[in-house]
Amino acid sequence: MVLSGRAHGKLILFGEHAVVHGFPATGLTLPLSTRIHLSCEADSIPKVENQAGVIKPLIPYMGPEVLGLWHEHDWHVRVKSDVPMSCGLGSSAALTGALAHAWAQGLPHLPAQDTWRMAHQAERYFHGQPSGVDTALALGQGLVTFQHATTSMLKTESCNISPFTMVVGILPRTQSTRTLVNHVNHQLKTEHDATLSLLAELGDLAVLPSVTDEAWTVLGDRANQAQILLQRLGLSTPALDHSLAAGLSAGAYGGKLSGAGGGGAFVLFCQDTDSACEVARAVTAHSVSEQNPCPLQAHIYSWDGHILHNSGDPTL
Ligand code: MEV
Repeated sequence: MVLSGRAHGKLILFGEHAVVHGFPATGLTLPLSTRIHLSCEADSIPKVENQAGVIKPLIPYMGPEVLGLWHEHDWHVRVKSDVPMSCGLGSSAALTGALAHAWAQGLPHLPAQDTWRMAHQAERYFHGQPSGVDTALALGQGLVTFQHATTSMLKTESCNISPFTMVVGILPRTQSTRTLVNHVNHQLKTEHDATLSLLAELGDLAVLPSVTDEAWTVLGDRANQAQILLQRLGLSTPALDHSLAAGLSAGAYGGKLSGAGGGGAFVLFCQDTDSACEVARAVTAHSVSEQNPCPLQAHIYSWDGHILHNSGDPTL
């Protein structure tokens, strides 16, 4: 038996952390992917390293049918990915999504939504308390708002947003998603009303109106407001704030962290690709210092109203 699966990286535009507590979030599926190839046929096992150890801890989370299939054969596993690891672009969800997609081929009687459920359950190994949006974006496509995040099933609505361009930067992470989600949980216990109101405001910003013109201004304004709320929750870092400030000075309309925070991914909304190139150059130049001689990574993506395109890597 040979099974293969694929899932994508993601970018949360609005509502990260809020969505863990039932508020809305909006995100995009990125044109980056993780592919998994599972093979149990001795004669077809390629002469490459068996990466079974990468997926082994995820198997018990994926339910009894997957566990049965896992124990039935001696699996040879290959994983390939261009999703950057541990930086807020959904590498763990892309891995669990690709794995769930592969197992679903071996369990054809399972309902389609069980693919997401398997991926979501396995994501617990990494995050403890995932909302499910990362795995839904990993397995889905497009620009969508999650209205009711529950552990049973997510309700999504696609967004009607006219074209925009964005710079996605990646800084080293200082804390894991699990730690940052726990940090917000702790704040909810110690300062319940103030924290809940910040999360509710983040959720409100995630419900986008239909935008037919100059979407970057609407998204940029909302991003600046969201970033202030995320800072107040203690999720940004000085390096991230400095990168965003450099991008805004270079002409970006607005920006914010994306994902769990603590460094990692951030997004700056720009008018067009020329302006995005300026912004990307400014944030990468700004990141180089004596303490940090390596420039951060920045990528440019354009949303054409229907599909997200990779418009280049200005650091190359
Ligand atoms: C992480 O990409 C997004 C968080 O909202 C966690 C989650 O939704 O599971 C921080």
